[in-house]
Amino acid sequence: MKPYDILAIGELNVDLILNNIDGEPEVGKEKFAGDMILTLGSSTAIFAANAAALGAKVGFVGMIGQDTLGNLIRESLEAKGVDTSMLIETDEHSSGATIVLNYGEDRAMVTYQGAMAVMSFADIDKSVFEKCRHIHISSIFLQPALKADLEKILDYARVQGVTTSLDTQWDPTEIWDFDYTRILPLVSVFLPNEKELMLLTSSETIDEAVGKIKPYVNTAIIKMGSKGSLLVRRGEEPAFLPSFLNTEVVDAIGAGDSFNAGCISRFVKGETLEDCQRFGNLTGAINTTAAGGTGAFADKKTIEEIARNRFNQHITL
Ligand SMILES: Nc1ncnc2c1ncn2[C@@H]1O[C@H](COP(=O)(O)OP(=O)(O)OP(=O)(O)O)[C@@H](O)[C@H]1O
Ligand SMILES: [Mg+2]
Repeated sequence: MKPYDILAIGELNVDLILNNIDGEPEVGKEKFAGDMILTLGSSTAIFAANAAALGAKVGFVGMIGQDTLGNLIRESLEAKGVDTSMLIETDEHSSGATIVLNYGEDRAMVTYQGAMAVMSFADIDKSVFEKCRHIHISSIFLQPALKADLEKILDYARVQGVTTSLDTQWDPTEIWDFDYTRILPLVSVFLPNEKELMLLTSSETIDEAVGKIKPYVNTAIIKMGSKGSLLVRRGEEPAFLPSFLNTEVVDAIGAGDSFNAGCISRFVKGETLEDCQRFGNLTGAINTTAAGGTGAFADKKTIEEIARNRFNQHITL
């Protein structure tokens, strides 16, 4: 028995969210905000927290500074039931942070990547590969050192008999440097959203993008927002599955990460890919019923109740 079902490798940062701001920021002036929240950020953290809430044993490999924000990140992950014993601390860089200026539906964000930008394969204790059954890697464009080692990490996992999933997430540089012909054969489950997939493959349409990845992919499940998702397997017809539509969305922050959490929590149990896709759709939908990426995933009972009351799905976690 391995101690972890899932090891999440990815970025960690805090979000400093300012609400009710008196106008937009101006260089040389000072403004007041009416409200402030300091909280755990990062999409990989949402994935890890929600996979743990769904019952998987989850550990996190990420780099933080030896600072107050690093302590906050560690404590917040632990509070969500994620094992933090494999976090890597550095005294050379500070922890990453995003300042979020909230204006109604819109927000301006500034991110300092800090430690997350420098973690590479060399920093990761190789014994972690023996302790887990599955590795989920996310947000590679926020982590240039990790991205440079992506092939090495995926291949190391493959040799150790560890399955893998990858969600590239958005590329803030919009260069979309990604050799899918080399990476995708090494990934068990590829989890982009449709826009990202088109940009990663320089495609005009989703059909064109699917055609391009099909010879290389093992499994891809492409997230399509409120429409649902598309299951793509090498040598098989793509299978679209409509969402459990929520017409009263609170917000969709982290819906993709919650999809990943549901999908992979089933994948590590050996469930069929159709079941993984369906459960991903359900946990993506559940995410949209409460504020933020983890609001709906308080505990197993709450998740089961939302599934039953909002989407008429009877699940036992
Ligand atoms: N309004 C909605 N109703 C029901 N399900 C939804 C809704 N919006 C999203 N989902 C579910 O959540 C999944 C993931 O959402 P989305 O496609 O927005 O991912 P994403 O773009 O990767 O999100 P993120 O911003 O978290 O990275 C969808 O595939 C769908 O199953
Ligand atoms: Mg996403």
